[in-house]
Amino acid sequence: MGVTRKPMRESAEADWRGGCDAGRGIGAVGRRFFWLLFLGLCFARGPAEARAQETETAAAPGSVIAELAKEAAKVQPFLQGKWTKQWAEQAGKLEPVRPRRIMSGQREVLVDESFFYAGRYGSPLTYGRVLDLAEKHGFSPSAGARVFDFGYGSIGHLRMLAQSGLQVTGVDVDELLPVMYEKCSGPCGSGSVLLLNGRFPAEEELVQKAGTGYDLFLSKNTLKRGYIHPAREPASPRHVIRLGVSDEKYLQQVFDMLKPGGLFCIYNFCPAKAADDKPYITWADGESPFSKEQFEAAGFEVLEFDVVDDQPARELGHLLGWDAEGGMQLQTDLFAWYSIARKRPSVP
Ligand SMILES: C[S@@+](CC[C@H](N)C(=O)[O-])C[C@H]1O[C@@H](n2cnc3c(N)ncnc32)[C@H](O)[C@@H]1O
Repeated sequence: MGVTRKPMRESAEADWRGGCDAGRGIGAVGRRFFWLLFLGLCFARGPAEARAQETETAAAPGSVIAELAKEAAKVQPFLQGKWTKQWAEQAGKLEPVRPRRIMSGQREVLVDESFFYAGRYGSPLTYGRVLDLAEKHGFSPSAGARVFDFGYGSIGHLRMLAQSGLQVTGVDVDELLPVMYEKCSGPCGSGSVLLLNGRFPAEEELVQKAGTGYDLFLSKNTLKRGYIHPAREPASPRHVIRLGVSDEKYLQQVFDMLKPGGLFCIYNFCPAKAADDKPYITWADGESPFSKEQFEAAGFEVLEFDVVDDQPARELGHLLGWDAEGGMQLQTDLFAWYSIARKRPSVP
């Protein structure tokens, strides 16, 4: 496997992870995802700590894409929707990335194909589950359909959507992303990608740029109850997500951005919740941050609410190798929830 890297040191919290070699190829993306589940928000740490990384060898252009293509083939039998299967095939068609060094604040960061497509939150194929669920609930887009990803984190899955013919917008508050993905907005395959940076939807300019007419509004691992409404005092203020608006305003914003009939899908992979006598893990509380009544008050029809999706998540985790080489014990380490709401189709 051509991708060799020493582990990213993400923060002091990462110290106990010992010998996790998060960078030995895309198979190691699974292990990286595993640690991220345990360590929580990469974005929420100090930027310098979060981005420090030592590099042995940068991934050769094309090497990670080749591994992603293998992952895509492995997850095909798991995926049910015809459109989602086609989306997964796009992994092998991602554009190769030449390694380069960028400055993020005071720190130099190596961006190679591994970091570009999978370095921060793991394989883009993890989006396969939420897309499959969206398809099951009626998302079968035609060319030009619009998708919005709140807290996109990484570009791989967005490009795969664009290569499938869609107009994709991703927003993220992480300041590394506009540097790493400089000049990445624009046409992509038969679709397009628009990357926005800032706190959404608190920043009005982002709302304006995002526009309306979306067929699908996605949030994976971002709208977690624990991040938005922590049940206990978080260990650090960096372990919460600040929307900058009330729940009602957020839901109204999503509603306004969707086309009639458009879907709002929240999907969260999580580690086990902390026992009451242990420090609270915000990212383990993966239920919806909004109640069913709040969705309905905003005008949504709630199709699925806080559905436990542990078994499919574990199946996907296994296919992506999260349980390989001393990684997860999937039965005890991995949990998932999803909620899906629809903006009612307009009455003729
Ligand atoms: C745990 S990561 C999930 C990344 C990606 N969705 C995934 O599942 O791989 C959460 C992401 O949300 C972003 N984020 C948090 N609050 C945000 C906000 N108010 N507006 C935009 N992005 C935000 C973070 O920077 C981070 O990239």
